Amino acid sequence: MKSFLIIIWIIAAMLMLISTRSAAQDKNPVFETDDCIICHIQIEMMPADFHQNDIHLQEGLSCAGCHGGDPSTDDPELAMDRERGFVGVPSRQETPEFCGKCHSSIEVMRKFRPRIATDQVEQYFTSIHGQKLKQGDKKVAECVACHTAHSIMSANDGRASTHPLNVPGTCKTCHSDPEYMKEYDIPTDQFENFTVSVHGTALLDNKDTGSPACNDCHGNHGATPPGLESVSHICGTCHANNLNYFSSSPMEKAFREMEIHACEQCHGYHEVIPTSDEMISVGEKSVCTTCHSEGDVGYTAAVEIHKDLTDFVQKYNEAEKKLQEIKKKGMDDVDILFALQEANQTLIHTRTLVHTFDPLQVEEKAEEGKEKAIEAINLARQEIEDFYIRRYGFGFATIFITIFVVALYFKVRSLD
Ligand code: HEC
Ligand code: HEC
Ligand code: HEC
Ligand code: HEC
Ligand code: HEC
Ligand code: HEC
Ligand code: HEC
Ligand code: HEC
Ligand code: HEC
Repeated sequence: MKSFLIIIWIIAAMLMLISTRSAAQDKNPVFETDDCIICHIQIEMMPADFHQNDIHLQEGLSCAGCHGGDPSTDDPELAMDRERGFVGVPSRQETPEFCGKCHSSIEVMRKFRPRIATDQVEQYFTSIHGQKLKQGDKKVAECVACHTAHSIMSANDGRASTHPLNVPGTCKTCHSDPEYMKEYDIPTDQFENFTVSVHGTALLDNKDTGSPACNDCHGNHGATPPGLESVSHICGTCHANNLNYFSSSPMEKAFREMEIHACEQCHGYHEVIPTSDEMISVGEKSVCTTCHSEGDVGYTAAVEIHKDLTDFVQKYNEAEKKLQEIKKKGMDDVDILFALQEANQTLIHTRTLVHTFDPLQVEEKAEEGKEKAIEAINLARQEIEDFYIRRYGFGFATIFITIFVVALYFKVRSLD
């Protein structure tokens, strides 16, 4: 009995040993060797925002990398000795240089990654945040406001405050707080407007990272409102054809002279909402009638383009209905689907071509698409006709054969 208990005890001890070992192996070695961490954990004075996956910790940089001092002694006087390079906690104004001692140095950063950018601090001081920080403003964002201090991760990491899905929330902490922003002369509705926009819903609801977050339009470190010249170019980085067509349109020069931001005039910037064919019309939702009135070339253009688009859309919808009819009958729909897909591509292209504001170019494309839609409709009609021919043809054939057999029967009987 006694030896049995001993065996149990030994097994339990071994299991405990294995489990503590593997837990220790999982841990970053700095937790065992770095006296700053060992002591700060012991005295429960770890920063509140500390995270094990902090990239600096992962790279083996630990506390002294940023705060300086000597991480190899457990004597607090020596460890946090200014003589040994301890710099303590930086003020907001000091933060850019504090981070920049590594991030602005090619020599330091190259040791970790060969082609990492080292322009963040320089870029930062071109932004409104950076300029105001220099002037002594204590409320603007510095490095830590966007990155945190102790849970910094690469923007590819879903937990990072700079991950595309998290950026709007990061900017929101200040920009949507009317109390915090009250001494500044700017609105606090950017986040609110952004979340209901096409871009915001695609990014935040559908997790589509192809849709812009705040930093895609404002830059990461150069956060300023894009200037007059650059708004359209920023939109154009993703919507290249819209920009190209607009740039070749008769309105490009007029807008430049009137100092109007091109895309923004008709679409807004934070609150970009889904577009519709009604925008190019002379109806209630028109974006043309603010500047063009009856008799203008621009006004007529709006009327004509709207008509071309609605004619095309009507045919397209008709074709789509026919396709549904075909599908319900369980008939072959490959050719029709193909024609309809081509019509759909043309419809998308036509709506982009609107940005030429040239009725002739739009009409030409719309006609091309309408023909594809008509082709789909005709194919469907043919398919439906064939269906009835097959069905009634079979009926007629059956009746005919029956009559023939009956006639034959009577004939044979009469012969008997
Ligand atoms: C033996 C324990 C011990 C060691 C080792 C130690 N610290 Fe500290 N640290 C403390 C204590 C206690 C305080 C708070 C008292 C103070 O401010 O001096 C503190 C405060 C700090 C602060 C805040 C200072 C401020 O001005 O508010 C920082 C930053 C810091 N330590 C970083 C480090 C770094 C970096 C190392 C390693 C190079 C380190 N510590 C090593 C115990 C330690
Ligand atoms: C990437 C650079 C960086 C690293 C690495 C770093 N810190 Fe900090 N730390 C800062 C900055 C910047 C501040 C001031 C801003 C703030 O308080 O958020 C700060 C503030 C502090 C403070 C005072 C405020 C607070 O949050 O309690 C303490 C204590 C501290 N750090 C301890 C540590 C310890 C311990 C480690 C190692 C586990 C560490 N830091 C690693 C940059 C760093
Ligand atoms: C001791 C030098 C040093 C200091 C000081 C330092 N960093 Fe770093 N930082 C690094 C290194 C090394 C990396 C890892 C590079 C890599 O592999 O991507 C890094 C990575 C980063 C990354 C992630 C880069 C990526 O891969 O996307 C960010 C963001 C960052 N640091 C911000 C800061 C901020 C903010 C501060 C100041 C609070 C700071 N760093 C202070 C050395 C430093
Ligand atoms: C207004 C917010 C903001 C401020 C302020 C800010 N950053 Fe960034 N930073 C970002 C965002 C967002 C990214 C991620 C970009 C991406 O998607 O790759 C980034 C990326 C980085 C990277 C990764 C490499 C790179 O250039 O993309 C480093 C390093 C970095 N920041 C350091 C800093 C330092 C140092 C400061 C202070 C001088 C600072 N940041 C200030 C928002 C900010
Ligand atoms: C720590 C708070 C804080 C954070 C976080 C922050 N900002 Fe700011 N931002 C400010 C303050 C304060 C101003 C100065 C307002 C002014 O003077 O107009 C400002 C100014 C700006 C401006 C210039 C506005 C103008 O026309 O004057 C832009 C653009 C901007 N921020 C974008 C961003 C973006 C994008 C992010 C997130 C990546 C962000 N900010 C994060 C506080 C913050
Ligand atoms: C699709 C591009 C785009 C996105 C996304 C975007 N902005 Fe802007 N933002 C702009 C443009 C363009 C302006 C300049 C408008 C002007 O000056 O007429 C601007 C202006 C600003 C301003 C100056 C004040 C104002 O409202 O006019 C701030 C602050 C700002 N944006 C913050 C943000 C924040 C925070 C986010 C994310 C929640 C964001 N922006 C997302 C394009 C964008
Ligand atoms: C980073 C890329 C990117 C940038 C920059 C960008 N957009 Fe977009 N935009 C998209 C994506 C992706 C969608 C589609 C979202 C969806 O899934 O509905 C979109 C959708 C749109 C739509 C709606 C299209 C529709 O079918 O109704 C409009 C209008 C628009 N953007 C205008 C703009 C304007 C104006 C700007 C500049 C202020 C801009 N975009 C900047 C990527 C971008
Ligand atoms: C004069 C007004 C006007 C200007 C300027 C303008 N648009 Fe449009 N945009 C429209 C109208 C009208 C539609 C709707 C077309 C439709 O659906 O019939 C539209 C539709 C769109 C669409 C959705 C259709 C598509 O192409 O996918 C996007 C995206 C778009 N615009 C982006 C931009 C961008 C980017 C700029 C700046 C280069 C810009 N627009 C400038 C009026 C304008
Ligand atoms: C912000 C004001 C503004 C808006 C909005 C606007 N335009 Fe214009 N447009 C002008 C100006 C200014 C001119 C150049 C002067 C002129 O010919 O009337 C112009 C010129 C034109 C021209 C060329 C006229 C010519 O004589 O060759 C056409 C076509 C046109 N616009 C169509 C449209 C359409 C369609 C819309 C709506 C989608 C629209 N515009 C929206 C201001 C505007």
